[in-house]
Amino acid sequence: MANLEEMLHQRLAPAFQSVAGIPVDPAIRRSQRAHFQSDAALSLGRTIGGNPREIANQVVAGAQLDDLCSSVEVSGPGFINLTVSDSVLGRLLAVASGDERLGIPRAEVPERIVVDYSAPNAAKEMHVGHLRSTIIGDAAVRLLEWQGHTVIRQNHIGEWGTPFGMLVEHLLDIGEAEAAHELSVGDLNGFYQAARRKFDADAEFKDRARKRVVLLQSGDETTLRLWRTLVDESKKYFMAVYGLLGVRLTETDYAGESSYNDQLQEVTDELDGCGLLQESEGALCVFPEGYTNRQGDPLPIIVRKGDGGFGYGATDLATIRHRLHQLHATRLLYVVGLPQSQHLEMIYAVARDAGWLVPPARAEHVGHGSILGDDGKMLRTRAGASVKLVDLLEEAVSRAAAVIVVKNPQLDDATRSAVANAVGIGAVKYADLSTDRLKDYVFDYDRMLSFDGNTAPYLQYARARICSIFRRLGAEPSRDISVLVVTEPAERALALELLAFGSVVTSVAETLEFHKLATYLYSLASAFTTFYEKCPVLRSEGETRQSRLVLCDLTARTLELGLGLLGIESPDQM
Ligand code: ARG
Repeated sequence: MANLEEMLHQRLAPAFQSVAGIPVDPAIRRSQRAHFQSDAALSLGRTIGGNPREIANQVVAGAQLDDLCSSVEVSGPGFINLTVSDSVLGRLLAVASGDERLGIPRAEVPERIVVDYSAPNAAKEMHVGHLRSTIIGDAAVRLLEWQGHTVIRQNHIGEWGTPFGMLVEHLLDIGEAEAAHELSVGDLNGFYQAARRKFDADAEFKDRARKRVVLLQSGDETTLRLWRTLVDESKKYFMAVYGLLGVRLTETDYAGESSYNDQLQEVTDELDGCGLLQESEGALCVFPEGYTNRQGDPLPIIVRKGDGGFGYGATDLATIRHRLHQLHATRLLYVVGLPQSQHLEMIYAVARDAGWLVPPARAEHVGHGSILGDDGKMLRTRAGASVKLVDLLEEAVSRAAAVIVVKNPQLDDATRSAVANAVGIGAVKYADLSTDRLKDYVFDYDRMLSFDGNTAPYLQYARARICSIFRRLGAEPSRDISVLVVTEPAERALALELLAFGSVVTSVAETLEFHKLATYLYSLASAFTTFYEKCPVLRSEGETRQSRLVLCDLTARTLELGLGLLGIESPDQM
């Protein structure tokens, strides 16, 4: 089923075209004046010449709208205001109610989409940047899968390169068992910093670390085994964080930097074959066009370093080639912090120049800002260390539990802890996803856990309240209805919100601006609140009662689905 904007578009576009003689996008949008409006006559007046009001009148006269709209009027300098008829709203709502997918079709062209997200570094604590990437990436995975795409999750963890020389030596110093213990309980920072301290202070250790890097890169068996311990223990810890967060990442999604090692030489040769490689200060580099530093010198992607080793850039080139040629993806998403924007743009440019990245395939940086503490700086613990993610999440859950126990003392222990988990984790995710991802935001437990305002608990509570209506009714909602009666202004406003869900989903799948989905859910919940104040449900009768129950049910399902696409659970009571 098409959404309302599309239906109106289909009616207005031909009328515009016959007036203008050229194709015109009616640019239908939600409106304060009526339900929808089109301002296309105004700009058309400028392009083809002529009075916009006149043009608008001709378009309205030529468009077939009377089966959709109860009123169509031209106002002001040439706005077309469209009010959809109650019967159309009632019919579309009935279709949505009878459909598992709430009347929203799958993507017309299903694609293979790679989502690169989370990507922490082994033997190092995940920082809040990795938290954002994990939350946003998970929402992308859920939304795109729900649309019917084939989504391939890739967790590009950093587990190769020079730091591992020092980390392996430190592991040998303290003993394998102790190292495994520290890492598996999540003391990644302690481990890393101890290694770092020795590296900086102790020349003998530094020398051992350097030799160890050489052994690692030459594939020495013992070294590889020790390195694997570091990586495996870190992976276990990351899995624990993912479990707590409830994201879809699994063991099999790890595709770390080292998994591209045996492709790096081939990639180098291929770039050389295209004439893209240049030697610069002993290193082999590619200089994609248009990237320069402040002095105007061309910026390189270093493919092979002077010492013969390969680094982050080379790995990313192998990675993009793999995703295009082996994974056959046509859309590549990189959910990575904004500071890596230029690096990624340069990787895409090289991939285009090498003939790997060709349309319809495209690569997109889904960039994000940082999470700040209340001092406005990158979030840290009081001691100044970077925050341990597990602690952060556990704190959110225990604060949620404290609120829930006051709000609803009747809940049994098991339910309360499940609800606290859904609310605490949901609050952390929603605080992130409801912010424009390009912006930084301040991590604030009180705000994210508030039951008022644009928060997860508010939306979860709005839905739980609807569930309680059906509990009081003592019956499952009936979804089988041929048409809803829509007569009250508050019913109409709610109907329009409900029917807007599909177009929000479609546009967010394109832009990955999850805050727009969040804003939508918040305004849906607000429209429901007004409806519920103005329109009695259980105390009404007949068709009205049945229609209002369906409106309640559809609101609950839309909230549940919408939150679910953001990776947030909806408890039935709280
Ligand atoms: N491990 C990197 C970091 O912590 C992020 C990797 C992002 N993905 C990529 N393909 N470069 O900064």
